[in-house]
Amino acid sequence: MSKMFVCKMCGHIEFDNAPDRCSVCGAPKNQFQEDADAVMPSGKEGKEKHVPVIVVTDSCGLIPDDCRDIHVKVGSVPHPMADDHWIMWIDVYVNNAYSSRYLMTPQNIQPAVGLHLKTGKTGTLTIIGHCNKHGSWKSDASI
Ligand SMILES: [Fe+2]
Repeated sequence: MSKMFVCKMCGHIEFDNAPDRCSVCGAPKNQFQEDADAVMPSGKEGKEKHVPVIVVTDSCGLIPDDCRDIHVKVGSVPHPMADDHWIMWIDVYVNNAYSSRYLMTPQNIQPAVGLHLKTGKTGTLTIIGHCNKHGSWKSDASI
């Protein structure tokens, strides 16, 4: 497994090396701490509601000529979205490089997002979902 570095300011995780500045909150490199336990083990109790499920499709209805849709939900049994227990964000990585964060509030939406991936990107897509109570959980998919 790659080394993981966690931003103390916003909880963002970077793989392999700490960046000069946090891609999410802008905190400097010295705010990153290496943490081998930054994500929960995939077999840990509660995995059914926390390990992200990734579905890769071959096309996109919005951007037909250069896009593949990726559907992500947190948990094979969808995680609760309640005021005291919810998925705060979903972070996306392509070949260990951070791509995007989807911030979430619990009131109106499911713990799920649709991603629009440029075609021609191959390798590994990584998703980290973060629960306010139970921490960060990770899944990988081949793209
Ligand atoms: Fe949770």
